[in-house]
Amino acid sequence: MNFESELKIRAAEIENKLHELYIPAGICKQLDESIAYTLFSGGKRLRPVLTLSTYRMLGGAECDSIYLLACAIEILHNYTLIHDDLPMLDNDDLRRGKPTNHKVFGEAVALLAGDSLLSLSHEYLYESIAQARDKSLYLSAAKLISELTGAQGTIGGQALEIVSDALDLKNLLLEIINGKTCKLIAASVLSGAIVAGADEKTLQILAEYAQCLGYAFQLSDDLMDEKEKGAIDKKSMVGLYGKDYTVKILEFYINKAVNTLDVLNYDTEFLAETVKYCSKREI
Ligand code: IPE
Ligand code: IPE
Ligand code: MG
Repeated sequence: MNFESELKIRAAEIENKLHELYIPAGICKQLDESIAYTLFSGGKRLRPVLTLSTYRMLGGAECDSIYLLACAIEILHNYTLIHDDLPMLDNDDLRRGKPTNHKVFGEAVALLAGDSLLSLSHEYLYESIAQARDKSLYLSAAKLISELTGAQGTIGGQALEIVSDALDLKNLLLEIINGKTCKLIAASVLSGAIVAGADEKTLQILAEYAQCLGYAFQLSDDLMDEKEKGAIDKKSMVGLYGKDYTVKILEFYINKAVNTLDVLNYDTEFLAETVKYCSKREI
């Protein structure tokens, strides 16, 4: 398998589905433009690709519901990015090489675009349940996504990062990364596995894989930020422990993620290659 061309194909599938499914609300032009600006601005589509790939790896059959589920996750991810960039959070000017949403549309519209995307992601989840053959599996997946992306997950991690001072950061860093990054990646992998009918043991292994992938993803993102922006984020592992140590921990999580997959009796090549792809930028 040529991983990079396979990844391109799978990301394009998601891109096309998003274009096909997304309908602007038509109430407020600026809001619709702000939503579309972020949703269609060159995201890698990694999380929905993970959902789809895990589902297929476990033998899930083609159906509309799996695309709705995968797109719901990407929509939710895009909301987190808009809010994360706002002045009261990370105060970032650039995202995906373009001005951040609030720089173009203003803070109020950007905030509301993020809110709208969060609602929309749940609308897609309900629709995936409505169209599913096995509704109880889709219901379980949707519940897990809500759990892992609220105060127990993504938002909890972001909040912990905001309120932590330099002293507690060293103790809390892995918990923060687990919350703000790993849990959405886990939601992506595990929701695909749940709707494919995975057993408990498989779910446990995939949860371990996704957490390690999440750590590797965030650490390589921090290393890349440092390289590209030249400014070290004081609240990152690079800021707290330096580049060399971060690379070591990154290597540890890459190996752990890949090794975790070894015990699965499925073709795990794509999931293993994804870890290397997400991290190779820095190794
Ligand atoms: C960025 O995620 C947010 C982090 C958790 C570091 P991605 O790098 O996957 O974002 P896009 O969607 O591809 O821009
Ligand atoms: C982003 O984390 C995590 C979420 C959006 C939930 P970071 O703040 O570290 O990532 P970038 O650098 O903004 O993409
Ligand atoms: Mg940020």
